[in-house]
Amino acid sequence: MLILWRGKRNCGKAWGVSLQIREIAAADTYGLRHAILRPTEPLSACHYPLDGSSIHIGAFVDGKLLGVATAHPEIKSDFPYSKQYRLRGMAVAVESQGQGVGKLLLQELLSKLAGMEIPFLWCNAREIAIPFYERLGFQILGDFFDIPNIGRHKVMFRETK
Ligand SMILES: CC(C)(COP(=O)(O)OP(=O)(O)OC[C@H]1O[C@@H](n2cnc3c(N)ncnc32)[C@H](O)[C@@H]1OP(=O)(O)O)[C@@H](O)C(=O)NCCC(=O)NCCS
Repeated sequence: MLILWRGKRNCGKAWGVSLQIREIAAADTYGLRHAILRPTEPLSACHYPLDGSSIHIGAFVDGKLLGVATAHPEIKSDFPYSKQYRLRGMAVAVESQGQGVGKLLLQELLSKLAGMEIPFLWCNAREIAIPFYERLGFQILGDFFDIPNIGRHKVMFRETK
């Protein structure tokens, strides 16, 4: 999917730039996951056990990867859906944050899941990202819990349609 994207810092180009959202390989996500989500840990900490059976989406401008998102099948028993996906590894390059890239990635993922008849998506949301997920229609389940070395999280969820 190609989108005419007007980032806040796109050098003042009058008509914006083309932002491409497409599926990528697991290995393509590792660099941004590492830089944005787990910079103090080894790169291997950015390989998730279910990467091989996940959907990975990337956002590109001029061939440069600006953001990534991953989702894989995982049932959380709190939710009454027999088909659920879990969102993981949501990361946008620092210089591109706050310009709509995360929203486009998540919308594409939701659309793909809906097309696969997957009705439900949930995640463990970092405290700092909760307003972003709320803006994208996610709701909160329960209280904060701590993930060691990362910080406070809440479970968030939404239907894919
Ligand atoms: C969280 C993250 C993925 C969001 O992506 P992004 O590209 O920066 O967010 P967007 O610009 O697409 O924001 C989408 C909407 O959410 C809103 N939003 C984003 N962050 C927000 C915040 N902290 N507070 C309030 N609203 C926020 C935006 O204003 C925007 O609203 P709009 O649709 O009305 O314009 C990105 O900032 C990031 O990688 N952060 C660091 C890593 C991280 O925390 N990942 C999540 C792990 S659970």
